[in-house]
Amino acid sequence: MIISDDDNKKSSPNLGSSNIKKIQNDKAGKAKVEKSKDLEAVSNEFDETYEKTIRPKTFDEYIGQSNLKETLKISIEASKRRNVPLDHLLFYGPPGLGKTTLANIIANECGVNIKITSAPALERPRDIIGILMSLKGGEILFIDEIHRLNKVAEEILYPAMEDFFIDLTTGKSQTVKTMRVPVQKFTLVGATTKAGALSGPLRDRFGIVHRLEFYTAEELKEIVKRSARILNTEIDEEGAMEIALRSRATPRIANRLIKRAGDYALVKSDGKITKEIANLALNNLNIDSLGLDNTDRALLKLIIEKYNGGPVGVETLAVALGEDIRTIEDVYEPYLLQSGLLMRTLRGRTVTKQAYEHLGYKAPGHLNNGQMGLFD
Ligand code: ADE
Repeated sequence: MIISDDDNKKSSPNLGSSNIKKIQNDKAGKAKVEKSKDLEAVSNEFDETYEKTIRPKTFDEYIGQSNLKETLKISIEASKRRNVPLDHLLFYGPPGLGKTTLANIIANECGVNIKITSAPALERPRDIIGILMSLKGGEILFIDEIHRLNKVAEEILYPAMEDFFIDLTTGKSQTVKTMRVPVQKFTLVGATTKAGALSGPLRDRFGIVHRLEFYTAEELKEIVKRSARILNTEIDEEGAMEIALRSRATPRIANRLIKRAGDYALVKSDGKITKEIANLALNNLNIDSLGLDNTDRALLKLIIEKYNGGPVGVETLAVALGEDIRTIEDVYEPYLLQSGLLMRTLRGRTVTKQAYEHLGYKAPGHLNNGQMGLFD
C-alpha cells in the first residue's frame, strides 16, 4: 500500500489523469480497468520520473511559499535541538502546489526516510497498522488525500499520532482482546485539497496546519528558469514569463508546459523557448492567455450560455460537463475562483464580469458596477 507519490493530478489539459478517476475505474470492472491502468501507469510513470528530476530537494532550491518555508525551517531546527521528532504537519490547498515536494524536502532536511502513501490505499485496518509498525524512529509518513481516510484507519491513527502506540484487537466478540503495541516516534505529514473535509479530531492532532498558496508570476518564472536549466532547455526571460503567466499559478503545470514548449521549440525552431515559441506551443495546446484549458472555458461558457451567468449548482455543472463533482471542486474551481472569474454563492456558482469579457461575451448590465445599463 505504499505508493510512489504525488497528489491529485490536475495538470495541463491534455496531460495527466486524476487519482479520482483511477479509483472510479477500479470499481468499474476488472478487465477494462487493467487495460486503462496499463496506459495510465505508463504516462504516470513518465510524469513522475520527469517531475522527480526537476523537483527541488532542499529549502534553498524551493521557490515560493516563503512563510511556510520559514515556519518549517524553525520547527525543524527546534526539533533537532530538542532531539525530538518534528510535530505532525498538515498541508492543504489545490493540487500541484508542492505538498509532496515539501514533505520530501522536510525528510531530506531532517536526514530521515519518508514513506509515502495515500488514504484510499489504506482501506483495511492492516494497511495502516502495517505502515505504522514498519516506521523507524524519526521517519516521516506522508499520507496524501488524508481527508479520504476511513473512520477505522483514523481511530488507529489517533493514539499513534498522540502517544505512539496502536491498539491491536484479536479474537471475536466475547473473546476479543486488545493489545497495546508501541510504534516508533514518527512525524505524520498529511496532505489534502479539502481541509474542511477532515474530521475535527484528526485535524486537531496536527501541530502545524498550513495552507499552500498559489504562486505569483515572478515565482513561477523563477521555477520555469530553474527547471529549464536542469533540463538543458534554452529559454529567455520573456519565454519564461509567458509560460509562468499561463500556468494557473501552479508549478506542476508550469513544469509540464516547459516540456511541451521545449518539444515545440525543438521541432519547429532552434530549440530555444522564446515568447513567440511559448505562445505558439501553448496556443497549440488550447491553453489561453490566463492559462485556462478547454474544460475551464467549457465550465464558464456553460454558466454564461445556459444559466445566464448563474447561480447554478455544482452537481448540474458536473453532469453537463461529464466530470465528477470532486474534480470540478478540487481541480478546476480553485484557480477560477482565485483569478476572479468565478464566484461561489450560497445558491451556486456564478461567473464574474471578467469571465464574460475574457471569453468575448458582453457582460450583462448588473455586473457593471452593480448598475443596470440603459438597455438591460
Ligand atoms: N518545481 C516544482 N515546484 C517548485 C518550487 N516550488 N521551486 C522550485 N522548483 C519547483
